[in-house]
Amino acid sequence: MTTDDETLAAMAREAALGAYAPYSNFRVGAAVLGADGRIFTGANIENAAYPASNCAEATAVGTAVSAGVRQVEKIAVACIDAPSLDAAYPCGRCRQILSEFGTQRVLVTTADSDTREHSLEELLPHQFKL
Ligand code: THU
Repeated sequence: MTTDDETLAAMAREAALGAYAPYSNFRVGAAVLGADGRIFTGANIENAAYPASNCAEATAVGTAVSAGVRQVEKIAVACIDAPSLDAAYPCGRCRQILSEFGTQRVLVTTADSDTREHSLEELLPHQFKL
């Protein structure tokens, strides 16, 4: 992991503080690095109607894309409330969202604050694209 990766992972952890997660108490943050060098963060936003909730990755990617980003270089994801989980990996829907914007690398923070790096191809093989 490079220092840049560590910075992105720290930004994801920081972003998790903004989570609205009164139902799961599972605060997740994400930080997206766009191909143009800009970084956008986001957190999970839950809803009383559970399926109306947003994952942190979707919030961060949505913010980046709204600002003009069309290519995601990498994303860091961190959950700050799941010590029993080995690591909080992006859910299937978020993997598909990351695929849409050509995401190359996914950094996942583990419970012991280590960071694992994966390619999106590894996390989502045979990606669906139109
Ligand atoms: N969550 C994320 O934000 N990202 C993921 O990749 C997995 C799950 C959120 C959704 C929900 O608010 C909470 O974690 C528990 O599922």
